Amino acid sequence: MSTLVTGGTGYIGAHVAHLLRERGDDVVIVDDLLNGIRERVADFPVTKMHLEDPSCVRGGALVELMKKHAVDSVIHFAARKQVGESVEKPAMYYRDNLASMANILLAMEEAEASYLIYSSSASVYGDVKDNPVLESTPLAPINPYGETKVYGERLLAAAEKAGIVRGVSLRYFNVAGSARPELSDIQALNLIPMVIERLVAGKAPVIFGDDYPTPDGTCIRDYIHVLDLAKAHLAALDALRSGHKLSGTYNIGTGQGSSVREVIDALMKASGITIEPRVQARRPGDPAAVVADPSLAEEELEWKATCNLEDMARSAWEGWNATH
Ligand SMILES: NC(=O)c1ccc[n+]([C@@H]2O[C@H](COP(=O)([O-])OP(=O)(O)OC[C@H]3O[C@@H](n4cnc5c(N)ncnc54)[C@H](O)[C@@H]3O)[C@@H](O)[C@H]2O)c1
Repeated sequence: MSTLVTGGTGYIGAHVAHLLRERGDDVVIVDDLLNGIRERVADFPVTKMHLEDPSCVRGGALVELMKKHAVDSVIHFAARKQVGESVEKPAMYYRDNLASMANILLAMEEAEASYLIYSSSASVYGDVKDNPVLESTPLAPINPYGETKVYGERLLAAAEKAGIVRGVSLRYFNVAGSARPELSDIQALNLIPMVIERLVAGKAPVIFGDDYPTPDGTCIRDYIHVLDLAKAHLAALDALRSGHKLSGTYNIGTGQGSSVREVIDALMKASGITIEPRVQARRPGDPAAVVADPSLAEEELEWKATCNLEDMARSAWEGWNATH
């Protein structure tokens, strides 16, 4: 019995692969390696595969791999994840993210694998007005990336209803930090790596808008340490395997918001580099605050985030230094 981790050379998938193996689970990885780093999982078996390719299924390589390793569970991280790119290339995002999800379900049916954990995102909620965000908050994604996450969740729910798999969708909030430096997120796509990049270059971190209706005027988000997030997957896997009755969709956040200024301060403290941030105009489409209510996951998955912003800032800084 083993677990297939798709996108396992990526930032989050690699964290989960290591945690699974540390507790003795067998892990198999598939990844197209377009955005992943093979060295993150140097001593794991990795099969290169484009999961959106229809030849993966109907006796194809994905099905064969799952049968060969007696895969009972799949954790499906593999997806394109850049919001801006998804606006420019919507068809590519729909094809890659949804065809790969469909192929995973077809392959699971063929190989008789039972459990699926799907990587969703807080982007399904779109322009949040009320906090904290509950799972029942209406879904209103504002870009093609978020739309693919909504449809992926719906596909999983339909497959579950059809009796093909048992699964859960985990809606990640703002993922940050690393469990060890070599597993870090090296792309400057999110606030934390973007701020580090500027501090290291001797440039002022940029704040987009300091006139929001928040205590310090800057946007608030719910940052979750990637190690806490990774542990949520193990908790979800255990809950699925144990047959517990589950609601099926969970916010994975801390329930605590941090402002852009607080994040920048934490990173200046962690790095020892102090540069006064530069305030620019608001960016269109940035809600003032997005904070999870993670109580459903805490209750049903028996999981709770334990790391704080300082932990995230410190490990992100150490990771940056180790990988640049
Ligand atoms: N990082 C975040 O802040 C965040 C937040 C919310 C949700 N998520 C979701 O979590 C998942 C993992 O994110 P990550 O940050 O580790 O991303 P990542 O880009 O580091 O890892 C994803 C991996 O999957 C691979 N991949 C993508 N599409 C593929 C395909 N069609 N076939 C095979 N391999 C493919 C990529 O090349 C990469 O190696 C994604 O589904 C993402 O949408 C991430």
